[in-house]
Amino acid sequence: MNPVLLHLGTPARGERWQTLLPRLVPGLTVRLWPDMGDPATITHVAAWAPPDDLFATLPNLAMVFSVGAGVDQLRADALPDHVALVRTVEPGLIVEMADYATLAVLALHRDLPRYLAAQRTGQWAPQPVTAKGARRVTVLGLGAMGGAIATQIAALGFPVTGWSRRPRDLPGIDCRHGADALPNVLAISDILICALPLTPETRHILNAATFALLPRGAAVVNMGRGGHLDQVALLAALETGQVAAAMLDVTDPEPLPPDHPLWRHPRVVLTPHVAAETDIDGGARAVAAAILAHRAGSVPPGLVDRSAGY
Ligand code: GLV
Repeated sequence: MNPVLLHLGTPARGERWQTLLPRLVPGLTVRLWPDMGDPATITHVAAWAPPDDLFATLPNLAMVFSVGAGVDQLRADALPDHVALVRTVEPGLIVEMADYATLAVLALHRDLPRYLAAQRTGQWAPQPVTAKGARRVTVLGLGAMGGAIATQIAALGFPVTGWSRRPRDLPGIDCRHGADALPNVLAISDILICALPLTPETRHILNAATFALLPRGAAVVNMGRGGHLDQVALLAALETGQVAAAMLDVTDPEPLPPDHPLWRHPRVVLTPHVAAETDIDGGARAVAAAILAHRAGSVPPGLVDRSAGY
């Protein structure tokens, strides 16, 4: 049976993948949702958040691709165990995530939210500049993206600590791991960046207790998922000054309701989940590499460990 990949997503990516993927995976056909033909012929699905009932209609499904780095938006529990769930972490996405973190760290390090607020009220209010070596940055999550973020921020001259669930070793980064290590890590985080996957363990990891452990006046960057952040706790910590500023690329829900206080908070910079986007060609190459690896009986790059949730 020749493999058939069903693509759900933008026509631009679907049409490009229809041309590119069969060149990379001989014998593969790409169909564009909702024109899927006979459901029994579909062996692969690539989507961001497919309809909940889709998988149950595809009896010969072998692989499902999230077209982004996360799988929390996908109903993984609706997939039989034999179906390989794969996330797409392609080089373009990693570069963009590291660039967004750089933008956020420099903006927070140089007090940009404060200057933007001052500009709106016509105030000329210079602040002293802190040396980069004295601004300690922590990256939560040291996977492909978190690791690249930590390395790029360290290259700018900031002391960087990285924290992850499992032990990691990255040159130039003070790597710590495990829940027990987190309080000590938070205590030395002047800028805290969340680049974790969203799992039941990491939901609301940025909460009131977390903020209380940070040095007073720390800044927070959330470029993981909105679900990582207890938004009420952030607003409270901003109110007391425990957290001085935040840059958020993700919220819960997305978008926030029009009257949500985070929209207009003078010390919050909000971007609409744009830190990084999977490159169309890079995504096709990642999907092709995973299909070929699976076909050869090896572990596809990006294979999700369903018990860990990422
Ligand atoms: C974007 O948020 C992604 O998971 O790729």
